[in-house]
Amino acid sequence: MKLPERVTVYEVGPRDGLQNEARQVPTADKLRFIDALIDAGLRHLEITSFVSPKWIPQLADSVEVARGVRRPAGVRMSALVPNRRGLDNAVAAGMKEVAVFLSASETHNKQNVNKTIDDTLTAFEEVVPPALALGLQVRAYVSTVFGCPYEGDVAPSAVLHLSARLLEMGVYQISLGDTIGVANPRQVEDVLGQLLARHPADRLAVHFHDTQGTALANCLVSMTMGITTIDSSAGGLGGCPYAPGAAGNLATDDLVAMLHAMGIETGIDLDKLVEASRLAASFVGHDLPSKYLKAHLGKQARARRRAEQG
Ligand code: HMG
Ligand code: MG
Repeated sequence: MKLPERVTVYEVGPRDGLQNEARQVPTADKLRFIDALIDAGLRHLEITSFVSPKWIPQLADSVEVARGVRRPAGVRMSALVPNRRGLDNAVAAGMKEVAVFLSASETHNKQNVNKTIDDTLTAFEEVVPPALALGLQVRAYVSTVFGCPYEGDVAPSAVLHLSARLLEMGVYQISLGDTIGVANPRQVEDVLGQLLARHPADRLAVHFHDTQGTALANCLVSMTMGITTIDSSAGGLGGCPYAPGAAGNLATDDLVAMLHAMGIETGIDLDKLVEASRLAASFVGHDLPSKYLKAHLGKQARARRRAEQG
């Protein structure tokens, strides 16, 4: 199997993970979490969203988060921006990288940003060129690439069209979102094959949610095809509190454990990462789904019991 020597793990827990949490997480806890992730070696972090607080109340403190984070050299931090107002707020709060987002399916796009896909692309014209002119890095998400909660199947041609438009606009990378976690490895091979025939691998990243437990298998196929940037969320944080059974992003812990076991470098300290996930679990108030995290915590508890027994 041909695999990359090194993978860039793009941590989205503070944004994609937390945005779905029912309990309002205090800003100070978010900052401690981000700090712990940096300490664990994460170098690409999506820390918040400059979106309407009415739509995503959990991230209403984006300015405080962006102003409050420690920004060591070599750490890149990004935030979602849906429109010019979001960009202006992000820049004022010190962000040097932002991400725009839209869906490959019309209904999900409307539900998410209250616009048609065409109107969203028009809105991006007011975001991407000015952001680039200010010297920011701009990433883009295409959501519902592998399936839509409202429309079901999504045509790869829609993903090809949007990816080409966004790259022409000047975004440095497209992250391909399996928003509801329905992708399977064969489908990933098909969609990526079509995209990679048109764009270099480093222009593409994968962003799998793990609803059906297929995220790692999808990552493996992606890596064999040359993809070297993978989005994930510490502990597998996320999932919609109003959709029982829906899961969050692929857990960073599970991803990193698998990559390291296969000899693929990430620059991440897995023990410290687990501590960051544990911290997140403590402030969201429930266990997180990462399998590696559960196994690790179980091992620690057994060792503690043995020590207590003498
Ligand atoms: P709208 O209601 O159509 O827009 O929302 P509007 O222009 O009429 O504004 C409504 C209100 O929001 C107004 O306030 C605006 O001022 C305010 P009011 O007058 O009612 O008091 N507003 C803003 N406030 C702060 N920051 C802004 C901003 N813009 C407007 N930037 C809008 C349109 C796009 C704003 C809204 O739909 C929105 O914020 N949506 C965000 C949705 C979101 O964040 N979804 C989750 C992220 S996407 C995702 O998770 C998928 C991903 O992970 C990949 C994958 O998994 O596939 C990326
Ligand atoms: Mg997502």
